[in-house]
Amino acid sequence: MSMFGLHYKLERTTIGFALAVIVAASIGGFVEIAPLFTIDETVEKAPDMRVYTPLEIAGRNIYIREGCYACHSQMIRTLRDEVDRYGPYSLAVESQYDHPMLWGSKRTGPDLARLGGKYSDEWHVAHLINPRNVVSVSKMPPYGWLARTTLRIDDLGEHLETLRRVGVPYTDEMIAHASADAYGQARPDSTYAEAVRTRYGEATQIRSFDGRSNEPTEMAALVAYLQILGRLTDVATKSAAQAGE
Ligand code: HEC
Repeated sequence: MSMFGLHYKLERTTIGFALAVIVAASIGGFVEIAPLFTIDETVEKAPDMRVYTPLEIAGRNIYIREGCYACHSQMIRTLRDEVDRYGPYSLAVESQYDHPMLWGSKRTGPDLARLGGKYSDEWHVAHLINPRNVVSVSKMPPYGWLARTTLRIDDLGEHLETLRRVGVPYTDEMIAHASADAYGQARPDSTYAEAVRTRYGEATQIRSFDGRSNEPTEMAALVAYLQILGRLTDVATKSAAQAGE
């Protein structure tokens, strides 16, 4: 019997056809969920990975609010040209504290997954105020008001608490001091600065970010976030080095 003959016959027996549909759909469903059974072995471990500081979370929230993800991905694929252009490809573990994830699906501008440290803070401020200041052909929109808007920090403890509910390991102390830590990270001369390093690690970047010394602006938070992209752990750089890339 030909393939089509079988199909015609099956279509005439309602129960048989329904069963065949269920079988076919379950195979598809199984194929989709199968990778999850081995998730413990497939997701790399990154013992050195730290959580985002409150200032970086504030910057991340601004990144989401302004829709930067509509033009920028944060996911370097395993293709040769991507690795050559952007650096080691993204590992699953690098997104473990990203709620929601910002992998993106469209690149009008370049991928930003390993942006941290590529440019100076001054470059970012000038670029965000008007991208044409530094890249004459840029099509990116300007975000000048970020430099004129004082950052809201009083609610950052609640943001951290919410993230803890979905699995980010913030401590009670980090939550209690979130507002002071956000201020301290952007104002290195203040009395709050040193505690940020104690709570989030020696490597935490503590500096003005927006070039000011009064109340931190939204610009300071966004630049702090951009400067940490790809630098919460160096597991990707290490595994690329091991692979000889
Ligand atoms: C309409 C699309 C669009 C939006 C929205 C957008 N960008 Fe861009 N972005 C671009 C383009 C195009 C470039 C490349 C030209 C340039 O460097 O300005 C770029 C470049 C960049 C770069 C330089 C990257 C590199 O490696 O050289 C950074 C950083 C950046 N954008 C950050 C942001 C942030 C932060 C936001 C949100 C506040 C944002 N962009 C919103 C289109 C966009």
